[in-house]
Amino acid sequence: MDCRSALGSSITVLLILVLLPLRASDDRLTLGKPLSPGATIVSHGGVFALGFFAPSGAAPANLYLGIWYNSVTELTVVWIANREAPVANSTAPTLYLTNTSNLVLGDVKGRVWTTYVASASSSSSPEAVLLDTGNLVIRSPNGTILWESFDHPTDTMLPDMKMVIKQGSRSGSPMERLVSWKGPSDPSPGTFSYGGDPATSLQVILWNGTRPLYRSAPWTGYRVKSEYQTSSTSSISIYLAIVNDEDERYISFTLSDGAWLTRLVLTYSGGIQIQSWNASSSAWAVLGQWPLYRCDYYGYCGPNGYCDETATPLPTCMCLNGFEPASKDEWQTGRFSEGCRRKEALGGCGTGDGFFILQGMKLPDGFALVANKTLMECATECARNCSCVAYAYANLTSGTFRGDTTRCLVWAGQLVDTGKFGSSPAGDTLYLRTAGLDDDAAGKKTKSNTVRIALTTAGSNVVIIMCIFLAFFKLRGKNKKLEKYKKLKVSSYGSSDLEFPFVRFEEISMATENFSETCVIGQGGFGKVYKGTLHGQQIAVKRLSRDSQQGTIEFTSEVILIAKLQHRNLVRLLGCCDEGDEKLLIYEYLPNMSLYATLFDESRKMLLDWATRFSIIKGVARGLLYLHRDSRMTIIHRDLKAGNILLDAEMNPKIADFGMARIFGNNQENANTQRVVGTYGYMAPEYAMEGVFSAKSDIYSFGVLLLEVVTGIKRSSSSHTLGYSSLIDYFWNMWKEGKAKDLVDSFIMDTCSLDEVFLSIHVALLCIQENPDDRPPMSSVISALEKGSTTLPAPSRPGYLVRRIPEVEQMTVNALTLTDIDGR
Ligand SMILES: *[C@@H]1O[C@H](CO)[C@@H](O)[C@H](O)[C@H]1NC(C)=O
Ligand SMILES: *[C@@H]1O[C@H](CO)[C@@H](O)[C@H](O)[C@H]1NC(C)=O
Ligand SMILES: *[C@@H]1O[C@H](CO)[C@@H](O)[C@H](O)[C@H]1NC(C)=O
Ligand SMILES: *[C@@H]1O[C@H](CO)[C@@H](O)[C@H](O)[C@H]1NC(C)=O
Ligand SMILES: *[C@@H]1O[C@H](CO)[C@@H](O)[C@H](O)[C@H]1NC(C)=O
Ligand SMILES: *[C@@H]1O[C@H](CO)[C@@H](O)[C@H](O)[C@H]1NC(C)=O
Ligand SMILES: *[C@@H]1O[C@H](CO)[C@@H](O)[C@H](O)[C@H]1NC(C)=O
Ligand SMILES: *[C@@H]1O[C@H](CO)[C@@H](O)[C@H](O)[C@H]1NC(C)=O
Repeated sequence: MDCRSALGSSITVLLILVLLPLRASDDRLTLGKPLSPGATIVSHGGVFALGFFAPSGAAPANLYLGIWYNSVTELTVVWIANREAPVANSTAPTLYLTNTSNLVLGDVKGRVWTTYVASASSSSSPEAVLLDTGNLVIRSPNGTILWESFDHPTDTMLPDMKMVIKQGSRSGSPMERLVSWKGPSDPSPGTFSYGGDPATSLQVILWNGTRPLYRSAPWTGYRVKSEYQTSSTSSISIYLAIVNDEDERYISFTLSDGAWLTRLVLTYSGGIQIQSWNASSSAWAVLGQWPLYRCDYYGYCGPNGYCDETATPLPTCMCLNGFEPASKDEWQTGRFSEGCRRKEALGGCGTGDGFFILQGMKLPDGFALVANKTLMECATECARNCSCVAYAYANLTSGTFRGDTTRCLVWAGQLVDTGKFGSSPAGDTLYLRTAGLDDDAAGKKTKSNTVRIALTTAGSNVVIIMCIFLAFFKLRGKNKKLEKYKKLKVSSYGSSDLEFPFVRFEEISMATENFSETCVIGQGGFGKVYKGTLHGQQIAVKRLSRDSQQGTIEFTSEVILIAKLQHRNLVRLLGCCDEGDEKLLIYEYLPNMSLYATLFDESRKMLLDWATRFSIIKGVARGLLYLHRDSRMTIIHRDLKAGNILLDAEMNPKIADFGMARIFGNNQENANTQRVVGTYGYMAPEYAMEGVFSAKSDIYSFGVLLLEVVTGIKRSSSSHTLGYSSLIDYFWNMWKEGKAKDLVDSFIMDTCSLDEVFLSIHVALLCIQENPDDRPPMSSVISALEKGSTTLPAPSRPGYLVRRIPEVEQMTVNALTLTDIDGR
């Protein structure tokens, strides 16, 4: 180094001190006790040693100051002070500590290497200690660490070492990189380096000079655990994480207890290896190595190609969905550098394009990070920008990040260095913009199924949804899991774009604390309902019971249809999941529970004055009208009841579980169903007894609901207490006798308008008439409730079931899903 000429008088003094012996047990250097060739400093537990060494195979005259494993028989150096400037033993090199708390390596010619500890204030008792982690630290007398070798890595990363990949503005720690040796016995800096990508601190890159050679997958927020089997009974777990600490970001790894000595090293030949010392064979075992396959190398598969690590027998290049090899001839001969081109140009913004969902991917390079977005906003960000070709999302909160933990990545232009991991935990979901209906992609796969659904929404926009399930890929190795590729459209609803995501089961599992019982907020005939938080949004997750399920394709296509139904009085379906046996629906979470849980709970009942109740009734009616008529799909709810009316923060009603009958696959064309779903007491008699359903059976249920809201009496109230065979019988008789006023819930007597109450009871009785044809359609119900019609017909006798009929009882047991427990 350039300090050699600075020959100070102090050096001469110290040359004398060299002769003082150093005790073998010493783990530190102090003032006036330098270290010379032949002696070592050994960490307290004997793990590491510091001293002068000559690399094996190199000229023994050239010495380096370094740290190596003390207990490992093969000299394995993990840190070097003077890798660019070896010293000759003949020049009497020493390492000593100065009274300004600096370590200096010098010889008769001057200083060769020094730490540049800024604190110029001299001190009488600084010390340099070699720790059992392999870290050499200079400590001031008060214990403050002034310098540490871990901040100045060479080619090796040790457990607990922090490799800074994003500079902290406050701490000022520099970006760090591992730099390889030049050769097996030449520690001077080679061409390979490994460290944080300066363009984004979300990934780590291995460079050959300035050219990237290999790139890690962008960080997903989770600590990556890699487990390596070292014998039939033992294994080593390595946990690698990117940590965002204050404003500094670094990577670091830790080991499981009792693990072998392990290091991450950048070899002189340009590979990253995880090495563990196998004491029984006295050799370093290479547990992991990158790049491993040819197509692991940066950009090997060309633009828009990807390295499919799940391919058998060896990983190979593939084109992303919707792309084909740019040059088929080259591709066939194993030259992939030209990559892939689109089979079909993108249709233009917002209209013809869809997003293909690719799971388990190593995300491409060249992304832009859009700060502070939810998944939905991220999808919108990409969908509305014509130059955006893909996006991916992660919430980094679950890992070791602070500050903005959203990770919305968007891509423009070519996608380079993409990979497919299969089941690796580092896998990400890539949403890839793809042109229109991609018949080719589906048609080519032999076992594929294509589902295409087109529908028009209530708005002016035509929405086309597609859901294509491509062939199932068999994964390499033991993990022969089925993997699904799905495609769906981004569609426009007025100003806001809608993205309907398929969510991974593990994400939902995490969102609901592993479907913890404490997260259960409801239970119904279709399964349990859990509360959870997904990407910052509160959600309700319905986990459909396994026994009542149909095929995946029917399920998913129905779910996508249902998800497109949007109305302020319908609960929004946000996503779904179908993996293996698991079928889950993700809904918006509504804080005010159900109408059932509010109306029939003494402590919550006061939330419902008459004005609120009347507005709830009208809201439910509008939601039902939308389902029956305006959705252009005629959805019969078949299980309308107080438990399925949820209330938002402003007590607006939202109908839940609509479309469940469709999802459960009863034949819609045939209005006569074998399997009766619904809730006893709300069911129209013709539906319960004969299985005949129509919009009119929903209107019957609405009538029953209306009566409950007005009276505050549960339809399941025991007929005994009322003195009638059923609640409906009771209502009917009270009405006939002109005692309708006695029906009104005493809670609302003070606040209600009797006109509105009577109107509601009248409408309710019209809705529950025995003959379905007599019941008014939902449109008439709404206009009656809103305009207060005075010309309503007189209701005829209501239809109702009396439970003692044995046939009905029988059917109840076998076919009805009795859902008395409230949903959500
Ligand atoms: C350097 O020289 C000293 C004394 O001449 C000797 O004891 C020591 O072993 C030498 N060190 C190395 C690494 O060759
Ligand atoms: C530190 O060392 C320098 C030169 O070796 C000496 O002049 C100075 O007095 C020392 N300071 C203390 C506080 O020992
Ligand atoms: C410890 O000493 C260093 C200088 O040696 C000084 O900068 C620092 O403020 C001291 N810390 C404490 C807690 O006294
Ligand atoms: C690294 O770059 C050099 C010079 O460009 C080249 O000769 C060498 O093959 C490269 N090594 C690897 C492993 O890519
Ligand atoms: C460690 O060494 C033993 C003995 O040579 C060998 O049987 C074992 O496979 C080695 N383990 C690893 C992980 O290399
Ligand atoms: C993210 O949004 C929050 C609240 O909207 C705001 O306080 C914060 O400054 C934003 N952060 C960034 C990085 O934009
Ligand atoms: C669209 O994306 C491109 C590339 O990412 C970006 O440069 C541009 O600013 C974006 N435009 C808008 C309007 O966000
Ligand atoms: C990320 O997840 C955490 C916990 O799951 C949540 O608190 C946070 O709000 C989420 N952030 C975003 C932006 O989704």
